[in-house]
Amino acid sequence: MLGINMDFLPGRVVFGAGEIEKIGVYASQFGKHVFFVLDPFYLGSEMAARIEASLAAEGISCTVFSEVAPNPTASAVDKAGDQCRQAGCDLVLVLGGGSSIDTAKMVAVIAKNGGHAWGFVDGSCKNEYGALPIIAVPTTAGTGSEATHIAVVTNEELHFKGGYAGKDILPAIALIDPVIMSSMPPRLTAYTAIDAFAHCFESLLVPTANAFSNAVAYEGIRLFSDHIRTCVKNGADIEARGALALASTFGGMAITSGGTTWPHGLGQTLGAMFNASHGASIASCLSNVVRYRTDAAVPTFARVACILKPELAVLPQTEQAAALPDVLDALFAEILPQKVRMRDFGLTEDRLEEYLDILYASGNCYGQDNYPVRLEREDIRTIVKQCL
Ligand SMILES: NC(=O)c1ccc[n+]([C@@H]2O[C@H](COP(=O)([O-])OP(=O)(O)OC[C@H]3O[C@@H](n4cnc5c(N)ncnc54)[C@H](O)[C@@H]3O)[C@@H](O)[C@H]2O)c1
Ligand SMILES: [Fe+2]
Repeated sequence: MLGINMDFLPGRVVFGAGEIEKIGVYASQFGKHVFFVLDPFYLGSEMAARIEASLAAEGISCTVFSEVAPNPTASAVDKAGDQCRQAGCDLVLVLGGGSSIDTAKMVAVIAKNGGHAWGFVDGSCKNEYGALPIIAVPTTAGTGSEATHIAVVTNEELHFKGGYAGKDILPAIALIDPVIMSSMPPRLTAYTAIDAFAHCFESLLVPTANAFSNAVAYEGIRLFSDHIRTCVKNGADIEARGALALASTFGGMAITSGGTTWPHGLGQTLGAMFNASHGASIASCLSNVVRYRTDAAVPTFARVACILKPELAVLPQTEQAAALPDVLDALFAEILPQKVRMRDFGLTEDRLEEYLDILYASGNCYGQDNYPVRLEREDIRTIVKQCL
C-alpha cells in the first residue's frame, strides 16, 4: 500500500445549515481588515449584507472585490491582488464558486509576495513569504476548492489554463453552508455536481491514490449518486444540497492526494480555449474517456458503475466495468437538458490539432503519466473526435 499524504487538508472544516451567520466570529481570530472576494452573483445581495454585518459586529472592516469571471483570468486576479496589498488586509474571505475561491487563493499569495498570478503558475514568481489566511465559503457544490491547495487561473494571452499548488493556500477555514447553494439553478447544479463526481472518480485512477483519498472518493460518489436527481429537481431540498456539498468537499480532499487525470486535462483545455464552463467541459468527455478503454481499471470502473446503478451487482466484474460509460451517459441525460458536446463550446474538427497542441503545450496532458493505461496523442485525438 502506498504511503498516505494527508498534509493537504484545510485547517478547519465547518459544515452545517446556517453556519454563515457566524462568519464574523470565525474571521475575528485572523484580524480586523478583510479582503472580501465576492462572486458577482451576490453583489448587492442580502447574503453579502448579512456577512458584512456579521463582520462589522466583530469590529472587522471590509474591502470588497467582485470582478470575478468564470475561469478567472490572470490579469483580473492580479488586479485583486494589488488591491488587497494596497488595502493592507489581514485575511481573505471568499463567498463564491470555484472561480472566486481560486481568485482569493492567488490574492492571498500576491498580498504577501507581490508578483503576478501567472508567474506563480509558471514558476517565474516564487512564494517566499506564504499567504494571508483564507476563509472559503463555497456557493457551488462542485470544485471542492475550499478543501484543496490548488488555484486554477487562465492566461488569456496564451490560452493556457494552469494551476498553482501550495500548502499556504489551503483555506484556514472551509465553511460549508448548504443553504447558500440552494440558489443554484438546475443546470449549474448538475454541471458543478458532475465536476465533484469527476474529482472523486479521477482521484481513484491515479497512481498516488491511497486509502484516505479512496475512502472519501467512494463516499463522495455515493452521495452524488443518491442525491443529484433530487438537487436538480428540487433545489430547495437542504438535505440533498448538504449531501452534494459534502460530495464536493470530499472530491477536493480526494484530489489533494489523488489528483485528476485525462477528463480534467481535456476539460481544462476547453476552458482555456473557449471559456467553457468547467463542469460542462468535463461532462463533454468523461464517458468517452472511460469508453475508449473499459479494461483500463476494471475493479474501479466496476465498483463505480455499481454505486451509480446497483442492479449491475449481479453481473461479472468485466461487464460491470464495460457498462460504466453507458451508465454515465444515462445519468447525465437525466440531469442535463441535453447532451454536452465539445462543439457546443466552439471546438470543430478543423481546430482539433490546435486543441491538441494547446493540451500538450499547457501541461494539461498529465493524464499521459497518471491514467492506468497509456494513451498517446492519436488515442486522445480519437477520443476528442468522439466528443465533438
Ligand atoms: N482549485 C481547485 O481545486 C479547483 C478544482 C476544480 C475546479 N476549479 C476551477 O473552478 C472554476 C469553476 O468553478 P465553479 O464550477 O464553482 O463555477 P464558477 O465559480 O465559475 O461560477 C459559475 C457561475 O455560477 C455563478 N454562481 C456561483 N454560485 C452561485 C449560486 N449559489 N447560485 C447561482 N449562481 C451562482 C457564478 O456567479 C458564475 O456565473 C474553474 O476555473 C475550475 O478550473 C478549481
Ligand atoms: Fe474540476
